[in-house]
Amino acid sequence: MAERGKFISFEGGEGAGKSTQARLLRTSLEERSRAVLLTREPGGSPGAEEIRKLLVEGATDRWTPLAETLLFLAARADHVARVIEPALAAGTWVISDRFSDSTFVYQGLARGLGMDAVRTLQRAALGDFAPDLTLVLDVSPRAGLERAVARGAHENRFEQFDAAFHHRLRDGFLSIAAEEPQRCAVLDGTASAESVAANVWRTVVERLAP
Ligand code: TMP
Repeated sequence: MAERGKFISFEGGEGAGKSTQARLLRTSLEERSRAVLLTREPGGSPGAEEIRKLLVEGATDRWTPLAETLLFLAARADHVARVIEPALAAGTWVISDRFSDSTFVYQGLARGLGMDAVRTLQRAALGDFAPDLTLVLDVSPRAGLERAVARGAHENRFEQFDAAFHHRLRDGFLSIAAEEPQRCAVLDGTASAESVAANVWRTVVERLAP
């Protein structure tokens, strides 16, 4: 039986550079002859990609915080059961652009559902399934939003929330990382992509010995 793969998530606010870093990390791991699956949330399985459209497009008040959370968890349950878990079991390393911490921070804190409610729902949907390593890319909300807006995607529902919302996101990711230092590492996301990638790689080597 193959040795189980490792599960790495990237987290951060809008425009933190997660997608770029996730791709660069995939390349570095492949250079070490690891089989790698790069995926994202919401999405990553056909059903979850359908749900993604409901969540990231449209008006900010399209969903109540509770309904929104349940949709994220429905997408995640499908993604984990059909894509992530089988890949890990086959020995593939999985990199996800966002995972559970985004739900704690966006829905629990910034949207105001509460951390306890998210914890209860998350446990019901996923049990204690969690990443082996979470890399939080930290940028100021202003710098991140400038990058996100420049990207010009139509998937901008969460970008439209006010500045206070985006400050809550940053504080939320930093406090989760402080509470779970074993699993999380915070990296400065404002440096050049190459230098952030070097930090990402150093952290992965230290923590997971790929
Ligand atoms: P992305 O822009 O990083 O692809 O993520 C899509 C949006 O969905 C982003 O604005 C963050 C938001 N999101 C949540 O609000 N909760 C979640 O659990 C996840 C995974 C994403």
